[in-house]
Amino acid sequence: MDRLKNLVGIVTGGALGIGRATCLLFAHEGAVVAVTDVLDTEGAQLVREINSSGGVAEYWHLDVTREAEVQDVFSKIRNRFGKIDVLVNNAGISGANKPTHEVTEQEWDKLMAVNVKGVFFCTKHAIPYMKAAHRGSIINLSSIYGLVGAADAPPYHASKGAVRLMAKNDALLYAADNIRVNSVHPGFIWTPMVENFAKQSAAGEKDFRKMISAKHPLGHIGEPNDIAWGIVYLASEEAKFVTGSELIIDGGYTAQ
Ligand SMILES: NC(=O)c1ccc[n+]([C@@H]2O[C@H](COP(=O)([O-])OP(=O)(O)OC[C@H]3O[C@@H](n4cnc5c(N)ncnc54)[C@H](O)[C@@H]3O)[C@@H](O)[C@H]2O)c1
Repeated sequence: MDRLKNLVGIVTGGALGIGRATCLLFAHEGAVVAVTDVLDTEGAQLVREINSSGGVAEYWHLDVTREAEVQDVFSKIRNRFGKIDVLVNNAGISGANKPTHEVTEQEWDKLMAVNVKGVFFCTKHAIPYMKAAHRGSIINLSSIYGLVGAADAPPYHASKGAVRLMAKNDALLYAADNIRVNSVHPGFIWTPMVENFAKQSAAGEKDFRKMISAKHPLGHIGEPNDIAWGIVYLASEEAKFVTGSELIIDGGYTAQ
């Protein structure tokens, strides 16, 4: 219950899916949670849910592609809660799923703006608060798609490879400030992102789920809490010696 007691955590893209599960577990483990997203109704609803079950959370509208907005919201969160201990760079989109030679510049830029530039902006504007406090934990949501290819979604693969290495480099840059930076690599997790992907697939939702499940040696797709518990670990003092590492939670997908 108290693994994150007295910590203040920001979760980007916190309204749905893995972000939402992370906000709920953070609150359950005693953290004060800054839920941020572009989906204001869902974000506010989640905050009500957390606060009515004894947790502490507040919602801020935050589009991670806008640097001025990131700077402003982080400053407000810091003023409201007194510090920023944990940043979960979770906001992400799956983007164009077609071969590289068919991807447009606009599709490429749109995905990179959220999945890579958003992580850069959020890290950039969290670091000064963490440096001043001489502590912090930053967790980048990469993917199995940041480790291996799958012959689909080229911009997404590129973006997840980028945030994996950004975590390692930032881990080195800020180790002396006692700021840890790690990446998490989920296999397929049943969230709105994957559900939409499944609905658009030629195989149809049911067969897509079956087909994707079969790619994971454990035989099924994961659920948001499978990832959120890993994020809780990296945010907590239990991981005080863990930095620059990659936590793979994928039902064995990349062990093959
Ligand atoms: N679901 C999976 O199978 C899976 C696997 C590997 C990695 N991931 C990664 O985990 C993270 C969460 O994925 P998910 O499946 O929960 O996705 P999701 O689509 O279910 O939720 C993503 C959230 O991010 C928000 N978001 C999108 N653009 C944003 C922006 N510009 N600014 C702020 N918020 C924004 C959305 O509104 C949404 O609430 C993503 O980075 C994703 O790439 C997911």
